[in-house]
Amino acid sequence: MTSDKRPRVFVARIIPDEGLQPIIAQTDADVWQDELPPTRDELLRRVEGVDGLLTMLTERVDDELLDRAGPQLRVVSNYAVGYDNIEVPACTRRGVAVGNTAGVLTETTADAAFALLMAAARRIPEAYDYVRQDRWKTWGPMMFLGPDVHHATLGIVGFGRIGREIAKRARGFDMQVLYYDVMVAPPEEEARLGARRAPLEDVLAQSDFITLHVNLTPETHHMMNRETFARMKRSAVLVNASRGPVVDPDALYDALNQGVIAAAALDVTEPEPMPGNHKLLSLPNCLVVPHIASASFATRGKMASIAAQNLVAGIRQEPLPSFVNPDAYARRVTA
Ligand code: GLV
Ligand code: GLV
Repeated sequence: MTSDKRPRVFVARIIPDEGLQPIIAQTDADVWQDELPPTRDELLRRVEGVDGLLTMLTERVDDELLDRAGPQLRVVSNYAVGYDNIEVPACTRRGVAVGNTAGVLTETTADAAFALLMAAARRIPEAYDYVRQDRWKTWGPMMFLGPDVHHATLGIVGFGRIGREIAKRARGFDMQVLYYDVMVAPPEEEARLGARRAPLEDVLAQSDFITLHVNLTPETHHMMNRETFARMKRSAVLVNASRGPVVDPDALYDALNQGVIAAAALDVTEPEPMPGNHKLLSLPNCLVVPHIASASFATRGKMASIAAQNLVAGIRQEPLPSFVNPDAYARRVTA
């Protein structure tokens, strides 16, 4: 047989072999080879006629893209736990399954958020710059003082899987943990994690550290803004490893510049990527890293594996191991 009956898929970036190999083995895969994502036009061309799509958070999946792909498209597998880049209702309406990588990156992301928290508190990047600039001349009693992490109050905004793992880490540092979430965690979960739910304004007012672990939605867009910064302690440190637009960057700049809050550590930014000449990067009390919170060898491999499983399951119209919109299949059957 000369014709390849295997399903056609577009994979929007090279992902670790744990996912790429099974995809190549089971599908007719077009894999985008560049380090930079495809342009929108290129993406729209590549998705035409495919049965499955493997996207990153850099690919916007909306009506226009779904129309260009065509009615044979069965699944969009996102290589991320967050899926704000995907218009899920538009997929569901068309019976297109959406998968994410929930569960496998929880602890790795919590580790990274905690690393950011500690680095910002103890001013590690500033201190490292100081040494590299050959300014280290003596031991200094007043050099690079920062707040203690141990026994401080930690405010976790968004108490899902990742937020709860942060709480676990905080226990080891004898921190007092407050959280805000629209959902109330079960009392036994609160007891196990030593965390207490409080209204957002109390979490903001009482915390020495605030760490964000919400999804990006219209409700959480710019939830950290001039008003919320003004409610925080002047000594407070903000950590964001969720999505950039949860924080208003202009308000953050002013808050850091004017001492409304003490410091910030960001894994995610608005805009993203953040250009090297962005005003936030001119501030010594703002640490920025390029969206790497899930970037451990093991976790990126697990993400690739689950993304591949989601892709193949969706093509077969089987339940996805990490299924964002299980109702999509009901649509396809009744449509
Ligand atoms: C990364 O930010 C993810 O959502 O997995
Ligand atoms: C992600 O896994 C979350 O639910 O926080």
